[in-house]
Amino acid sequence: TLLAKAVATESGANFIAVRGPEILSKWVGESERAIRKIFERARQAAPAVVFFDEIDAIAPARGARFDTSGVTDRIVNQMLAEMDGIQPLSNVVVIGATNRPDILDPALLRPGRFDRLIYVPPPDKEARKEIFKIHTKKVPLGEDVDLEKLAEMTEGYTGADIEAAVREAVMAKLREKLEVGKVEMRHFLEALKKVPPSLTKEDILRYERLAKELKKLTLG
Ligand SMILES: Nc1ncnc2c1ncn2[C@@H]1O[C@H](COP(=O)(O)OP(=O)(O)OP(=O)(O)O)[C@@H](O)[C@H]1O
Ligand SMILES: [Mg+2]
Repeated sequence: TLLAKAVATESGANFIAVRGPEILSKWVGESERAIRKIFERARQAAPAVVFFDEIDAIAPARGARFDTSGVTDRIVNQMLAEMDGIQPLSNVVVIGATNRPDILDPALLRPGRFDRLIYVPPPDKEARKEIFKIHTKKVPLGEDVDLEKLAEMTEGYTGADIEAAVREAVMAKLREKLEVGKVEMRHFLEALKKVPPSLTKEDILRYERLAKELKKLTLG
């Protein structure tokens, strides 16, 4: 999500962000119209970036689902129609984000639709250190706090996990002594016990395999 937002900011284009689940809930019965409106707005606002966050909620494979009403089928069809461009989509870039690329309708991943698939891996050690830095910027840190070490200890932690761990370390400090003072390494160590990583090694392997398979699918 953050990456897509960063792309939008950096590009300077108009940014239209929609969350998949929101389209389903807010536009009950008229989700296709919602999709049509979004693309209409994008054409008017061009150059524009349309960002569908959590796109798996609205674009799972057609026919194969729990959705008995057929709503998502109609949404996918509408998206395909928009992207295939009966009306040309010029200077409009469409971005989708998902944790479940495996359940997306494969038609969306064909050339001319979402042409390019980018696997965003969880942060590596260096990235985790940077994320720790960002989220501790306003936290008074004790001398012994070693962000390098914390980065090393947090394999499988996502950005959100690190943010939560920092918050928890601050809480640990406050619980101990409700006065000003510094957050020390032991508070972080305590926090890491309370905030486990979201991702296991197996999860990461599974995502990597999936990324490779999808690449083959779209290039072949
Ligand atoms: N590069 C980063 N630098 C600083 N913080 C980050 C970074 N990446 C992620 N985070 C932190 O993690 C939080 C969640 O990130 P983001 O919303 O991008 O996750 P996501 O991949 O969309 O996750 P989800 O699958 O839950 O939607 C952010 O609010 C931020 O606090
Ligand atoms: Mg997200």
